[in-house]
Amino acid sequence: MLKSNKVLKMPDGFLWGTATAAHQVEGNNINSDWWQWEQKNVGKILDVKEKKFRNKKFEPSGLACDHYSRFEEDFKLIEELGNNAHRLSIEWARIEAEEGKLNLAELEHYRQVLESLKNKKIKVMLTLNHFTLPSWLADKGGWTNFKSPFYFNRYATFVAKNLGHLVDFWITINEPEIYMDMSYMSGFWPPQKKDIKLAGWVYFNMARAHKKVYKNIHKILDKKGHKTQVGFSMNVMSFASYRKHNFWELFFVHAADRIVNHSFYDLTKKSHDFLGVNYYFRVRLKKNEGSLIPAVDEVHEDESELSDMGWVVYSHGIFDVLMDFKDFNLPIYITENGIATEDEDQRAKFISNHLAEIHHAIQAGVDVRGYFYWSLLDNFEWDKSFGPKFGLVAVDRKKKTRKPKESFYAYQKICQTNTVRPVA
Ligand code: FCB
Repeated sequence: MLKSNKVLKMPDGFLWGTATAAHQVEGNNINSDWWQWEQKNVGKILDVKEKKFRNKKFEPSGLACDHYSRFEEDFKLIEELGNNAHRLSIEWARIEAEEGKLNLAELEHYRQVLESLKNKKIKVMLTLNHFTLPSWLADKGGWTNFKSPFYFNRYATFVAKNLGHLVDFWITINEPEIYMDMSYMSGFWPPQKKDIKLAGWVYFNMARAHKKVYKNIHKILDKKGHKTQVGFSMNVMSFASYRKHNFWELFFVHAADRIVNHSFYDLTKKSHDFLGVNYYFRVRLKKNEGSLIPAVDEVHEDESELSDMGWVVYSHGIFDVLMDFKDFNLPIYITENGIATEDEDQRAKFISNHLAEIHHAIQAGVDVRGYFYWSLLDNFEWDKSFGPKFGLVAVDRKKKTRKPKESFYAYQKICQTNTVRPVA
């Protein structure tokens, strides 16, 4: 664990950015499955995993942060932060609101968005699928549909052909394992299924889709001589046993690590130019002594520091997972890392200490090339609505005006100086 508070220098050319997702910030994503689901749940008390946000009436995304019309203003904030990169997503439900009809007006909108970043010399990391689907595809079973990789590839081809010259990095799919779990196993997110078989199909089809689109983007853009890099973002957790030598705890730690952190990569081998790592927390597993079959539970409550999501704050965990991924021999980008809190000191400390651990991993030989804080703005956090505050910038819920928080300036200092100082 890092204790010193000396100034640590990040490698030259390191990418500094923030990450967002279309549905969470743009507003009025009316042709998506999430929008449809939200309308059915307005004002309801949803079954939400995270304690602090339970028993609250669900508020739909609506205009969200109105980033769709205010992207210029938001990109000025990014410039002010001293960022040289930005991760955002393009919305499939806009580009292809109706099956097979590619929408030129929406394409033009995204052209303006990406050009605005390019004009500011900001590198673009574009996600093609960040949880949401066009409603027409959801009606056909979404990712459970055997043809879903074909549909995804059709949309991705259109985007790559028309906007590819404006994109530096592609994230095909964001967090396949989280999507599969939340939508098809634990059933919190649309279509709220709890069906292991369907979950398997989702994962399998997402892997097929990633591989197909990886090849295809290269085929389209390599021919044009445009250097491009394609990967996906995985949500990695730092797993640990509650007790050092407990056999079952260690067994489950290993199994969880293989399934959550490695399986999608294993299914899509040789189809990555880099690894996109989303890291938020550590999970400690404790044997459930009352259970007849070997089982473990997550230990949360006796951990020292939690975020508003109830996630365990553990900066050293990012070092652990990065060391694990070193063996993949691929460049790594931290495509998301952030904290939901209303305490600005806690957020600034979170960022500095995670970056110090990333620096530590780089010293140990891991090829980490960039960091994207989640998120630029306080936004629509899925089934938790606007409750969790992940943003560096507050957004007035009614007027949509932006106000940088203290952590905005703390992160700005890091990006502008390319250095970080861990906080005790
Ligand atoms: C990640 C998601 C992102 C956001 C953060 C808090 O798992 O990719 O959309 O919800 O968590």
